Amino acid sequence: VNCLNSVQRTFRRSAGTERGAVQTEGTLGEDSGEKDGPKSFYELMADRQEQAEKSVLISCQSRTSEKKFLNFLSKHGDIKKHFFYESYGVYAVVEFACRDNVVSLLESAAIPSVSHESMVPFKSRLLSLRNHSSGESPSLPCQPQTTVPINELIQRLSREESVDEQISSLTEAYQLREENSRLRFLVCSLLKDIAAAYFPECTIKPFGSSVNGFGKLGCDLDMFLDLDTISGKNLKTPKSGLSLEYQMKRTNSERHVTQSILSVIGECVDHFGPGCVGVQKILNARCPLVRFAHQPSGFQCDLTANNRVAMKSTELLYLYGELDPRVRSLVFTIRCWARTHGITSSIPGAWISNFSLTVMVLFFLQKRSPPIIPTLDCLRDLAEQLLTDFFEFYATFPFSRMSLNIRKGKEQNKPEVAPLHIQNPFETSLNVSKNVNSSQLDRFVALCQESAWLLQQSETRTPTGVGGKHTTKPWGLATLLLPSQVAGVKGRKKRKPHHASERIKSLLESLKSKNDGKKNSDS
Ligand code: GTP
Ligand code: MG
Repeated sequence: VNCLNSVQRTFRRSAGTERGAVQTEGTLGEDSGEKDGPKSFYELMADRQEQAEKSVLISCQSRTSEKKFLNFLSKHGDIKKHFFYESYGVYAVVEFACRDNVVSLLESAAIPSVSHESMVPFKSRLLSLRNHSSGESPSLPCQPQTTVPINELIQRLSREESVDEQISSLTEAYQLREENSRLRFLVCSLLKDIAAAYFPECTIKPFGSSVNGFGKLGCDLDMFLDLDTISGKNLKTPKSGLSLEYQMKRTNSERHVTQSILSVIGECVDHFGPGCVGVQKILNARCPLVRFAHQPSGFQCDLTANNRVAMKSTELLYLYGELDPRVRSLVFTIRCWARTHGITSSIPGAWISNFSLTVMVLFFLQKRSPPIIPTLDCLRDLAEQLLTDFFEFYATFPFSRMSLNIRKGKEQNKPEVAPLHIQNPFETSLNVSKNVNSSQLDRFVALCQESAWLLQQSETRTPTGVGGKHTTKPWGLATLLLPSQVAGVKGRKKRKPHHASERIKSLLESLKSKNDGKKNSDS
């Protein structure tokens, strides 16, 4: 990670760009403050956390006047940024110039007087606006927080003129927006206020796709309760003289501490957390967590504790994504392709996870000749070829014998039996994709073969149909997102019988039998 950090800084200096120019839209760094040179991942995280601490989340009636609303709030201080979005009603995120403004605002808010139900008098920065005046205003302008449906995406891609543009367009449509990123940090900050009842100096940080640059609108919110921020933690006891230390409860393992902290905070979120529903405590998992839905934001949340390795891998992916915009674009494209064909799923199971898939893309980029991460310049010419080559690379990869190692950028003999073996870059004895079974891997390989083949066909390689808005014929990347022809692949049932080209079928059969033959000889 340190090495990547320095590559990133060097690149930005040599490219003569400022941080804002290098970081693409929707990533962590956009619009997060000063423009004086590159910042580290942690500095950017800290900026976003600071913004979130000065923000409030307010449920509004859609017909409220925006001007009146802002006038009303600005009595408590200057508003630095605000926006509206919809999630079970209209909400506003409002960032004030300083925390005192938020304190003043909260002091002016009342406890609701509802007689027919009891409620927990828990005050937080999640509020409701009551509008007692009459008269209707136009609907508040809402920022979209979800992605376009797949059919609309296919149409949108088919209207582009090159695969390169299709890839950019897909990334543009899927990536997290500035507002969505702010909302994620705000939800963490609101939860921190709940956890702070027990641990006043704790922080809750987002990790995973919310901040690694590969997040798609609507992805889950992975959070990590950080107790290392509790002051005095690293204070050294002096060698002579008197000193004091806190008396603390001891338990038999670090895991047990994590479980009991999450258990208590999970209860608190369940009973007192406004807007938090469906709380599940999953404490016996390899990585214990509390899962719930945060209704005001619409985020599915996973709260973990003591999860420093995940934070490091998040930073690693972020840095890789920042090295060249095409890294993110290829990851977005492959993730979308995999999700469309049911290679990945939002439900936990034996399938390849988005995280594993991302590591596979990075490994592929390292294996390019010349390697694409971290070399940059020669990439411009390769953009379109990259997608085809990705599919070819994994269509023929010797999964039965080899493991992927992104520390070395090499494949190596598998240290243990598992259909897919991807070495964990931080805990090298572990397999990131241990959960994946052989039929899921076979589906992935079969789809890679089909997609590589489709991209090479003249009918799919260039735009074909010029038509009205709704009649553009899918081509290029759009073709890859249509239901698959590969035997055994989930999308097959949906296939219309006449849609299949006999040529595709026979080629796939031959690829399949070649692959089976190879597998037998491998084993
Ligand atoms: P989404 O599918 O968009 O949520 O992608 P994600 O990257 O957020 O994946 P997920 O929510 O499954 O996991 C969150 C983070 O946990 C990942 O980004 C990784 O940093 C880490 N992680 C997930 N799975 C593994 C694993 O098997 N091993 C290790 N070491 N870390 C993992
Ligand atoms: Mg996630």
